[in-house]
Amino acid sequence: MGSKKTCLAVLIVVLAVFSSTNFMVPVLLSSLRDLSLDAELFTCLSSGLSPLFGWHLGCHHHRHRHKHPDDSQRTVSICDNFPPDIPPPETNTTVTLCVDRNGCCNFTTVQAAVDAAGNFSQKRTVIWINSGIYYEKVTILRTRPNITFQGQGYLSTAIAWNGTASSSGGTFYSGSVQVFSNNFMARNISFMNIAPIPNPGDVGGQAVAIRISGDQASFWGCGFFGAQDTLHDDRGRHYFRDCYIQGSIDFIFGDARSLYENCQLISIAAPVPPGQKVINGAVTAHGRASKDENTGFAFMNASIGGTGRIWLGRAWRPFSRVVFAFTTMTDIIAPEGWNDFNDATRDQTIFYGEYNCSGAGANMSLRAPYVQRLNDTQALPFLNISFIDGDQWL
Ligand SMILES: *[C@@H]1O[C@H](CO)[C@@H](O)[C@H](O)[C@H]1NC(C)=O
Ligand SMILES: *[C@@H]1O[C@H](CO)[C@@H](O)[C@H](O)[C@H]1NC(C)=O
Ligand SMILES: *[C@@H]1O[C@H](CO)[C@@H](O)[C@H](O)[C@H]1NC(C)=O
Ligand SMILES: *[C@@H]1O[C@H](CO)[C@@H](O)[C@H](O)[C@H]1NC(C)=O
Ligand SMILES: *[C@@H]1O[C@H](CO)[C@@H](O)[C@H](O)[C@H]1NC(C)=O
Ligand SMILES: *[C@@H]1O[C@H](CO)[C@@H](O)[C@H](O)[C@H]1NC(C)=O
Ligand SMILES: *[C@@H]1O[C@H](CO)[C@@H](O)[C@H](O)[C@H]1NC(C)=O
Ligand SMILES: *[C@@H]1O[C@H](CO)[C@@H](O)[C@H](O)[C@H]1NC(C)=O
Ligand SMILES: *[C@@H]1O[C@H](CO)[C@@H](O)[C@H](O)[C@H]1NC(C)=O
Ligand SMILES: *[C@@H]1O[C@H](CO)[C@@H](O)[C@H](O)[C@H]1NC(C)=O
Ligand SMILES: *[C@@H]1O[C@H](CO)[C@@H](O)[C@H](O)[C@H]1NC(C)=O
Repeated sequence: MGSKKTCLAVLIVVLAVFSSTNFMVPVLLSSLRDLSLDAELFTCLSSGLSPLFGWHLGCHHHRHRHKHPDDSQRTVSICDNFPPDIPPPETNTTVTLCVDRNGCCNFTTVQAAVDAAGNFSQKRTVIWINSGIYYEKVTILRTRPNITFQGQGYLSTAIAWNGTASSSGGTFYSGSVQVFSNNFMARNISFMNIAPIPNPGDVGGQAVAIRISGDQASFWGCGFFGAQDTLHDDRGRHYFRDCYIQGSIDFIFGDARSLYENCQLISIAAPVPPGQKVINGAVTAHGRASKDENTGFAFMNASIGGTGRIWLGRAWRPFSRVVFAFTTMTDIIAPEGWNDFNDATRDQTIFYGEYNCSGAGANMSLRAPYVQRLNDTQALPFLNISFIDGDQWL
């Protein structure tokens, strides 16, 4: 792994997990100083961390130009490492816009590129985003359909902000990225909310990483990092493939119709000592409100792990619908598996199914009575892209 990639991997983990624990800051700083970091890694860490926390790691290597340590004669531009075939050529159906936080191509912020995309463009606008963490809140209005975010890998490129329900006028507006347009795509990029992780009982600490409110959106190789309410899968038909999704309470929520294939679902709820029965998280909170809505979350070949003692889902609204198929679950899943939001009238209307799952958390012998052990026929509609009419648009 190159030092830049190492840096971003470190940054993402540090920011995602430890942003709330202030005591970590001095520990982290001193350990960074103790390491003999190479110049590029050091600069990257420094520039990655300082905008957020106002830290200064004592690094004054360069802004846009610096001397190569081994060759004081040669001036090296930070843009020299820019891949030669970037941005990729436009075609007669695509427009390409390029974003680089160091100013090496068209735009330094993602929002500036989004704003430059045409209104109701019939062409697809590919926004190519170089490695780095982009500290900004990004909104894609309804008038900007057909936008693609192309990152360099979910551990290399990320958009991060720290809005919370209380700072943003409600959970629904706290997203670091908000997508209101149709036909959005994202590849190899992460969406992060780095607000402090709320303590149990805190009010207003919900912090969404991305809200997806347009129809026909797809995500390939993406990361979603947050704690409570990470992924607001709000409405429309959506597809997620090979994604990494991290959170604690209700970390995939909303009223969309979505298929998640080959995704890792990682709980960061506080570890619960063996024998304790407390519940401190839930993977999903699907919000289907009536039987007339054709919405639901289907998970195919997922893996669920991490920490805490959590439910697979809880019934945010009465007709909540979620299916897990061919999914491995560790023992962080509580034996009852699901929760009806403490409203027994919902037991008649919620649809919670499991099919061919495995692992210690998938033992269904103590599941809540309304949970369905799906047979082959019942499971079929949830197992492939036909669930989201993907044959028509994916
Ligand atoms: C678009 O380009 C392809 C080749 O890249 C060509 O076959 C096609 O005819 C072009 N379509 C239009 C509408 O120009
Ligand atoms: C982006 O940069 C490329 C290469 O410099 C240039 O050809 C293109 O016109 C720029 N696009 C915009 C929208 O500024
Ligand atoms: C899109 O439309 C809005 C409002 O009509 C306008 O302010 C904006 O300049 C337009 N953007 C582009 C890129 O045409
Ligand atoms: C997206 O672009 C395609 C052409 O690439 C076009 O057919 C389609 O209508 C566009 N979608 C939207 C919502 O504008
Ligand atoms: C977000 O981060 C900024 C800069 O560190 C800080 O001033 C602000 O209070 C944070 N907002 C929230 C809601 O934590
Ligand atoms: C995304 O990243 C993976 C792994 O790094 C790579 O194999 C794949 O080609 C990338 N896809 C796109 C569309 O960038
Ligand atoms: C299931 O997902 C894993 C990644 O989590 C992937 O490696 C594997 O190929 C997937 N299996 C199928 C049958 O798609
Ligand atoms: C899935 O489980 C059912 C029983 O619940 C079984 O009949 C079926 O063979 C299994 N299918 C696969 C592909 O494992
Ligand atoms: C499932 O859980 C029940 C009740 O705790 C237990 O008796 C049974 O052995 C478990 N089954 C498996 C396959 O672990
Ligand atoms: C699956 O379950 C449904 C509903 O309980 C039932 O009508 C159907 O006969 C079952 N199918 C199979 C193949 O067991
Ligand atoms: C998806 O599943 C449906 C059944 O729900 C089936 O008719 C269809 O052929 C499957 N499509 C693919 C691409 O496997």
